[in-house]
Amino acid sequence: MAANMKLLAAVLLVCFADFTSVSSSPVPVVIWHGMGDSCCNPLSMGSIKKLIEKNIHDVYVRSLEIGSSIEEDTLNGFFMNVNDQINMVCQKLATDKKLQSGYNAIGFSQGGQFLRAIAQRCPSPPMLNLISVGGQHQGVFGFPHCPGDNETLCEYVRKLLNFGAYNDEIQSRLVQAEYWHDPLNENEYKAKSVFLADINQETTVNQTYKTNLQKLKNLVLVKFLQDTMVEPRESEWFGYYKPGQDKDLYTMFESPLYTEDKLGLKTLNATGRLHFLSSDSDHLQFTEQWFIDNILNKFLK
Ligand SMILES: *[C@@H]1O[C@H](CO)[C@@H](O)[C@H](O)[C@H]1NC(C)=O
Ligand SMILES: *[C@@H]1O[C@H](CO)[C@@H](O)[C@H](O)[C@H]1NC(C)=O
Ligand SMILES: *[C@@H]1O[C@H](CO)[C@@H](O)[C@H](O)[C@H]1NC(C)=O
Repeated sequence: MAANMKLLAAVLLVCFADFTSVSSSPVPVVIWHGMGDSCCNPLSMGSIKKLIEKNIHDVYVRSLEIGSSIEEDTLNGFFMNVNDQINMVCQKLATDKKLQSGYNAIGFSQGGQFLRAIAQRCPSPPMLNLISVGGQHQGVFGFPHCPGDNETLCEYVRKLLNFGAYNDEIQSRLVQAEYWHDPLNENEYKAKSVFLADINQETTVNQTYKTNLQKLKNLVLVKFLQDTMVEPRESEWFGYYKPGQDKDLYTMFESPLYTEDKLGLKTLNATGRLHFLSSDSDHLQFTEQWFIDNILNKFLK
């Protein structure tokens, strides 16, 4: 009897230990790098991954690699159709056993709008918090500075965009053309943009996108107040140029996307799940402490 009790106690202890370790294991984090960058650059995504791991004991952090090498990952950030990238990442997330109970997502620069597409198109496994760090949710109309360190590559991208961002060939291959938003040619943008116009419900409204986006616990939008790389920087908070010119801007609250409630942003705002954060710096130039105080401690723990 006593031996049985001991055994029972031991079994219970093991079960309990297992249970507590499962229930207290931290929510995994998926990160998607920006243009000109890669999954594993020790100066960017590599150090972000380390920073999260250092501050959240035992957390699983997956920095997405698009392709099978760092070189491929970097080049795909320019030349792999975004819809194909979304499909690829969707598969990666669905087959990663560690993510199946849900994950938090952090997208840097263009990775911000790409992860929003994941939230809208791939609800399983569930994305819990989406943190967009300098993402361009209404697109861009200019790259005054090159974010990566490859100026040659950036010049080439600019040339292609100038040649014709909405040219079919360029649309199908050039990532930056797929979120190029020309306010002087709104109709052409809506008709031709294969990625941004789709996720922003510009031509047809896909109810699933709205349903899925509203599942987020929080949508966190970080804008860089001194951003010199994204034009206009208001795009990081869903603002943009009013159609027909490139000076006057509307805010997210004034945008058709919001007023016509095409994405469920109204609901997210009304329920306190939409957060506008800023860093008083240039593009992605936040400090480690800013990241810990505003992102890590508030949304990842
Ligand atoms: C709406 O989006 C979902 C998720 O991506 C997709 O499965 C579905 O085919 C889309 N519906 C239409 C009409 O495009
Ligand atoms: C820039 O990218 C091009 C195209 O991939 C490559 O050939 C070149 O070596 C790169 N330059 C630098 C400085 O990384
Ligand atoms: C957004 O949410 C905030 C906070 O709940 C609220 O004060 C504000 O009126 C909302 N904005 C709009 C346009 O609904």
